[in-house]
Amino acid sequence: MNKETGVLYFSPTNTTKKICKAIALGRGSKAPQILDITLPKARAELMANPKAMMAAIDHLVVGIPVHSGKLPIQVLECLNAVEGYKKECTAIVAYGNRGYGIALSSLVEILSKNGFKVAAAGAFIGQHSYSDIIPIAMGRPDKSDIAKAIKLGENSLDVDSWLSLRDIPDQIDTISSSEKYTALKPYFNVKKCVKCGQCAENCPVGVLSPDTGTYLSRAAKKQCIGCMACVGSCKKTAKSARVNLIVKLVMQNMLKQASRERKEPLMIVSEK
Ligand SMILES: Cc1cc2nc3c(=O)[nH]c(=O)nc-3n(C[C@H](O)[C@H](O)[C@H](O)COP(=O)(O)O)c2cc1C
Repeated sequence: MNKETGVLYFSPTNTTKKICKAIALGRGSKAPQILDITLPKARAELMANPKAMMAAIDHLVVGIPVHSGKLPIQVLECLNAVEGYKKECTAIVAYGNRGYGIALSSLVEILSKNGFKVAAAGAFIGQHSYSDIIPIAMGRPDKSDIAKAIKLGENSLDVDSWLSLRDIPDQIDTISSSEKYTALKPYFNVKKCVKCGQCAENCPVGVLSPDTGTYLSRAAKKQCIGCMACVGSCKKTAKSARVNLIVKLVMQNMLKQASRERKEPLMIVSEK
């Protein structure tokens, strides 16, 4: 049976995107239909017409990064709008080698509730968004991760039973069980800014001014999710991940274990 694979991801620093595309490749799809919901405009478009999006897709690979052991709150509304119509999907989270908390089970729960049949699931490792402060999982997903993602894609073909929440292990800790999201705001060096507007254009929550690169308002600053997409998009390094010594020491302590050991992807496929 010919199965059209689609890929839907939220990926401020592009690691989730790479993993999802490798899974699609494993499913035999070199040029899958891409639904990139990283930017607010794309999320609004999808929510306005979610049915049209699924029309040409038989299997949807859904990839979301882990923020504070959970799914980023900003994607929930959009994910909840995507109806599965009993089609198949693969649920993926990308995390920065610390822990994926309850993110994968939350994703599987949302997709199942929306009428998808979850054929496969996985928690992959991507370079931590705060690696400019403390290097963690540098260069990941690497060759070995991509090979595993391709394998998961292959294994997700032709399954005929579906995963449920019981199949998905959580990694519950104080961070994932708290409702709080801890995010570092990027540092902005106004003197280096050439007002190109790239940071604002690439901001997944639309909180930056395209004219000045500063937050649109005090309320907008509070909404910043600290994803570091603006840092990656700034060619002049006016935006950077920089913190004072005290914050650095706290982070080093919190992420000590993650910076030392290498975790491997978790891959789950429903049994035949
Ligand atoms: C606000 C925030 C919170 C994060 N929380 C976690 C976490 O709880 N556990 C973890 O291992 N990585 C965490 N990360 C790291 C990201 O999950 C990881 O870098 C991921 O690969 C980023 O995906 P992307 O490149 O698609 O944006 C966090 C990153 C950000 C920006």
